[in-house]
Amino acid sequence: MKMMRIPTQKECLAMFETYEMLPNIREHSVMVGKVTEEITSSLLNSCPINAELAIAGALLHDITKTQSFKTKERHAESGALLLTQLGYPEVADIVLQHVNLKDFSPIAPINEIEIVYYADKRVRHHEFVSVEDRIHDLLNRYGHTEELRQRFLHMKEIVLAIELKIEKCINASVETVFKNL
Ligand SMILES: [Fe+2]
Repeated sequence: MKMMRIPTQKECLAMFETYEMLPNIREHSVMVGKVTEEITSSLLNSCPINAELAIAGALLHDITKTQSFKTKERHAESGALLLTQLGYPEVADIVLQHVNLKDFSPIAPINEIEIVYYADKRVRHHEFVSVEDRIHDLLNRYGHTEELRQRFLHMKEIVLAIELKIEKCINASVETVFKNL
């Protein structure tokens, strides 16, 4: 079996420097990493996932966002391309799907991609918030057209469906895992 390559947390933080991430995006990414860690460390054995992979994906999900402000590139796509080139295809897939999940199934076993997608929707800037608050914030900031508004409302449905999957995997309310945040 081919070994999966995953950057260590130290390597992820070094990449913040290399790709000259803005301080606020670093803070956001670190917080999404913490939320991801709280979730992954609470999952029951019946829901096996690779915590190291999920945390690396969380730390790196916005790795090209700073440069995207200048270039107007789509940061999920460009971040995934970068990580693929660096030899981290599994991390790349998490980054690619943090904006739009491909083939989401509410009944398939939970995976690292969904956990990072969810964690990102619980952090506004570097602050831990409710799903309601985060979607409200997105609607206010980016919901300029009806199509965009519909997209965020659809996002909310998916986030809540992932939340249910997490709750099945911890056998408790999701809020219980965030006591330390
Ligand atoms: Fe992002």
